[in-house]
Amino acid sequence: MNNQPIGILDSGVGGLSIWRKIVKELPNESTIYLADSLNCPYGERTPEEIYVLAKRLVKFLIAKKVKLIVLACNTVTVFCIDKLRVDFPDIQIVGTVPAVKTAVEQTKNHRIGILSTESTAKSNYQKNLINKFAKDCFVINKGDSELVPYIEKGDIKSGSVKKILRNALGEFIAKDVDTIALGCSHFPFLREEIGKIVGSKVKILDSGNAIARQARRVLTNNNSLSLSKNTLHEFYTTGNAEEFVKVSKKLVGNKLGELIKSIQSVSL
Ligand code: DGL
Repeated sequence: MNNQPIGILDSGVGGLSIWRKIVKELPNESTIYLADSLNCPYGERTPEEIYVLAKRLVKFLIAKKVKLIVLACNTVTVFCIDKLRVDFPDIQIVGTVPAVKTAVEQTKNHRIGILSTESTAKSNYQKNLINKFAKDCFVINKGDSELVPYIEKGDIKSGSVKKILRNALGEFIAKDVDTIALGCSHFPFLREEIGKIVGSKVKILDSGNAIARQARRVLTNNNSLSLSKNTLHEFYTTGNAEEFVKVSKKLVGNKLGELIKSIQSVSL
């Protein structure tokens, strides 16, 4: 069990924002990353569709004998984590939510913005979570469905992306939020552009580190941390493998990009 890999799934390249934190937090662990690039974006799909797709991804990772599954996708987490845990009781599943607790701790004026996919925003799951921690916080949950396809192509700073971001963030600025929680795993790759628009006084939080620490806790509690330093990182995409590698390397940078060697296109 100990030397089996950690499975990480997302609708596309976005979950690499969490994969890179896991690799850093747990350098002795091997990983299998699965991207459903063919069916991306999930953010505009119905909860039923997302559940059907998510189940297929989990089955694939279980067949690959992973010891833990990280849902590096907020949309899957919000709609499916409870059901997936019931469907697959023999595997531990860690989900992702934006850095809700940290947002509540860090906001000074009690005004928080959450930027997520359209379906995640509609679910109100993340907003309700914040309100659970701090009833007095004013929370705006903005859903956007345009950005993910750009990020999937590796476009994180074109004029079109900046324009969409300016629109999406307009309400946050108008309502004077001082903390933004990124509620979609694709969006940490837009951190720089978001920062330029909202200004340096606004804190931008993502949950990558917290999820990596949670993965460590789960493995520690199960006594299943890796015993060897022979790591292998495998990548699978339901889309085009070459395109996935090209975009991924651009997003995570050259050093981590070096780890993206084994990549295969799969149909689920
Ligand atoms: N990256 C995913 C999330 O965290 C979903 C993006 C999408 O496919 O729309 O919500």
